[in-house]
Amino acid sequence: MTFRTLTRPLAGGAAMATAIAALGVPAAPAATALPVESHRPSTTAPVVIGHRGASGYRPEHTLASYRLAIRLGADYVEPDLVSTKDGVLVARHENEISGTTDVAQHPEFADRRTTKTIDGRPVTGWFTEDFTLAELKTLRAVERLPLVRPDNTRYDGMFEVPTLDEVLALVRQEERRTGRRIGVYPETKHPSYFDGLGLSLEEPLVAALRRHGLDRAGAGVFIQSFETANLRDLAQVTRVPLVQLVDASGAPYDLARAGDPRTYRDLTTPAGLAWIATYADGVGAHKDLVLPRDAVTGATGEPSDLVPDAHDAGLLVHVWTLRDENQFMATNFRRGADPNAKGDGYAEATAFLDAGVDGIFSDHPDTTVMALEDWLAAADRSA
Ligand code: G3P
Ligand code: CA
Repeated sequence: MTFRTLTRPLAGGAAMATAIAALGVPAAPAATALPVESHRPSTTAPVVIGHRGASGYRPEHTLASYRLAIRLGADYVEPDLVSTKDGVLVARHENEISGTTDVAQHPEFADRRTTKTIDGRPVTGWFTEDFTLAELKTLRAVERLPLVRPDNTRYDGMFEVPTLDEVLALVRQEERRTGRRIGVYPETKHPSYFDGLGLSLEEPLVAALRRHGLDRAGAGVFIQSFETANLRDLAQVTRVPLVQLVDASGAPYDLARAGDPRTYRDLTTPAGLAWIATYADGVGAHKDLVLPRDAVTGATGEPSDLVPDAHDAGLLVHVWTLRDENQFMATNFRRGADPNAKGDGYAEATAFLDAGVDGIFSDHPDTTVMALEDWLAAADRSA
């Protein structure tokens, strides 16, 4: 089983070859000849990551959402991870769950509504760390964006909050069913916060990967984090490739808390990227960092230097998040004035592929996969 393959190295391959060589993998083509113990999927083709599953079509972070992403052709599915009170990793974008579950409809949990400080900000609602897994399993997922994605609300109340173990089992099951290689791309959410509660995310994450035979390079797993310290710790205990997430503004919470003045922007300079390369294998970049938007028109223009600079540092670049609705796009990809209508996600994905990214997080994996397959075919034709 392999990921999507190329018949030739990609254009601009010098930087890519450097990046791949730095990961200890032959550059290309020979997808099936790559060693099992590689840090890189067995191809140089960019990958499509089903963001929270196929969250454009199903309530996010449900098994139904991940399953659909796989069926739509995603190479990876992305569970964001938080902890329950009894230390079980579950897939939720935040530990506060009022926006993505029906917890507010459960009178037995009404007294658990509270306000906490998460990464320096007050947050009010219900929190996974106040629920055992058994309690959490009595809740049902709901659509986060009901006004943007009203069709998805028909699935409200149907799906449980899945554990990481359940996600990994689903992926294995879908690999067997499809004969395709399907990766998993877990993100640790608020790692310093959970560490402070005595509910560290990293140990159960590595333990789960080990249980499923995935704690090794070449297993089709990336671990991502917006913080840096937990990735630096993870680099000591796992061979799974690590991805430093970088936002378009702000700073990693762990650095800010430690008095380190570096921002995400600082981490995208050549010096910042060189530092990231000491512990990680890639950057997961806000898409505006790769294709900046004009301050007046809101349209994308020429790519920034981030992709070539990251490749020079030996880092992959995966961008987040492509979503088909107009409101999430730069103005040049929008179609019509309705913010909830679909824009040209195909053109947007193609623009990022042209900019040289190695992977795309997408809420609508079918759109991104179609763009990628056409883009790869065009690359082959021009070879
Ligand atoms: O992990 C990539 C992307 O998902 C980061 O943003 O907030 O959707 O987890 P978020
Ligand atoms: Ca994420």
